[in-house]
Amino acid sequence: MEVVILDDAAQAGVIGADVMEQHVRANPQAVLGLATGSSPLGVYRSLADRVEAGTLSLAGCKAFLLDEYVGLPAGHPEAYRTVIDREFVELVDIDPANVQGLDGLAEDVPAMCAAYEQAIKDAGGVDVQLLGIGTDGHIAFNEPGSSLASRTRSKALHRQTREDNARFFDGDLDAVPTRCVTQGIGTIMDARHLVLIALGEGKAEAVRELIEGPVSALWPATALQLHPHVTVVVDTGAASLLRFADYYRESYAAKPEWQKY
Ligand code: F6R
Repeated sequence: MEVVILDDAAQAGVIGADVMEQHVRANPQAVLGLATGSSPLGVYRSLADRVEAGTLSLAGCKAFLLDEYVGLPAGHPEAYRTVIDREFVELVDIDPANVQGLDGLAEDVPAMCAAYEQAIKDAGGVDVQLLGIGTDGHIAFNEPGSSLASRTRSKALHRQTREDNARFFDGDLDAVPTRCVTQGIGTIMDARHLVLIALGEGKAEAVRELIEGPVSALWPATALQLHPHVTVVVDTGAASLLRFADYYRESYAAKPEWQKY
């Protein structure tokens, strides 16, 4: 696990985009895993800048979303598919038909989830997966108590997550859906490279558990300790409870450029 601690949080977007670009340069047909929420927005902006400048093309890429709320009508401004279209797809040159999300209105949820798993497999698996982390340690919407081997399925959202996300619904907790469909932790662990971005002191406890805590379903993100290639990008606030922050800084600074991520 590579831990990158940034003094300037704005750099997180650039680093995340650097990692994505590296994958797309190695394979222009790369399969990208997209996260929603505030953490990856800088990455999407930086990728959009590169595409606009003509230095990068995502035209050959495919992409899969991590999760979706259950019950929001198609086109709802906070449905994750709408957010990804607005914040990413419409700003780059990826073919929207090659971007797949989970259907939060599916009648047969297990069948929809199984088809989603199959679609990821058929695409050759995810090359690089962007992740945020919840204050309760969730990744995608795998809330505390989730099986670390879980696959794509429906879950209830914890109250903490609904409270955290109420800011996207004008602060109205009742407007935040109570259920979601989400890739499982096992599904996420199948991606070849995981890039997790966490910004701000509110994430400090979850980040400490993610990097230095025992692997436990109580902090689902700790499963990432078992993945062979993870890059965790944090600002000083999110890194503020790390016991070995100095060590991570030193070891990252000492790496040659080609080995940074
Ligand atoms: C969203 C997702 C969630 C968020 C997490 C952090 O697709 O998978 O796990 O990454 O809730 O959200 P932000 O970035 O808004 O703090």
